Amino acid sequence: RKPKVTVIGSANVDLVIETDRFPSPGETILGNTFHQFLGGKGANQAVAASRLGADVTFIGSVGEDIFGQQIVDNLRKEKVNVEHVLTIPTVSSGIANIQVAENDNIITVIPGANANLTEEYIQSLSAVIVASDIVVLQLEIPLEAVTIAIEIADKGNVPVILNPAPAVPLPEDLLRKVTFITPNETEMAILTSNAGQDFSVLFQQMFALGSKSVVMTYGKHGVIYGERQRELQNYPALTVQAIDTTGAGDTFNAAFAVCIACGKSVEEAIVYANAAAALSITKLGAQTGMPTEDEVNRFLKRLSD
Ligand code: RIB
Ligand code: NA
Repeated sequence: RKPKVTVIGSANVDLVIETDRFPSPGETILGNTFHQFLGGKGANQAVAASRLGADVTFIGSVGEDIFGQQIVDNLRKEKVNVEHVLTIPTVSSGIANIQVAENDNIITVIPGANANLTEEYIQSLSAVIVASDIVVLQLEIPLEAVTIAIEIADKGNVPVILNPAPAVPLPEDLLRKVTFITPNETEMAILTSNAGQDFSVLFQQMFALGSKSVVMTYGKHGVIYGERQRELQNYPALTVQAIDTTGAGDTFNAAFAVCIACGKSVEEAIVYANAAAALSITKLGAQTGMPTEDEVNRFLKRLSD
């Protein structure tokens, strides 16, 4: 049976420009290309999990505009269940303004309809949440919606992955109910209000705040995994030709979730997610390079040969 993954989160249209370098404030530069892609951390994680073989339900909200239509059509095309995607007539769909340059990106998200995902709506979908093998959340929707989803999953004994992006300090009660939290290094510093400290100190602070298991993605340094009373584990990054790192974190989270939902160990899940994320950055656009299950397995095999 396919693992049942429920992703609750944002869906955006990404307006992506490529430039040789980032302009300074007050400066005008000429860029290279413009593309419109489908994005949003929630929708991206849903698409990645579906390509990796999960049975995915996406819970989110779009505007009643051309972008909203494109977002839903794309999710359908990717075999994601969109039965519970709300369409809100009075607001625009979520938009992300993305600039890709210098092997990095800068993103500004206008939440639009994503901000209309209410606590009541999530509550009304309790049955869907508790019927899942895993629930995956990020922070591009209202925190009340994330909180109630975590509470429902916790009561139903459904494991939760929280990708705290974009990061804000989170209440201890919420952190205690999350099975795996997956910040990158910047988000980790925000969660612990402690930028600049040694990583082992930041992990200890996460545990003190209530987290059980912390998976920190650390760009080209790989992944660091921590559990209370255990030594931190370091997984090296894989080297690939990076074209656009947008969506790499989403691919990582989705792949990790699919493995955990299948009953794999955390170690296996991280190795697999690392490989999936590496493949995803070889193409421009968040979803464009997201691999299928076969592609990840072939890549892992090539690495071990
Ligand atoms: O994680 C990448 C995503 O962040 C983009 O697709 C953009 O929409 C923003 O939500
Ligand atoms: Na990409």
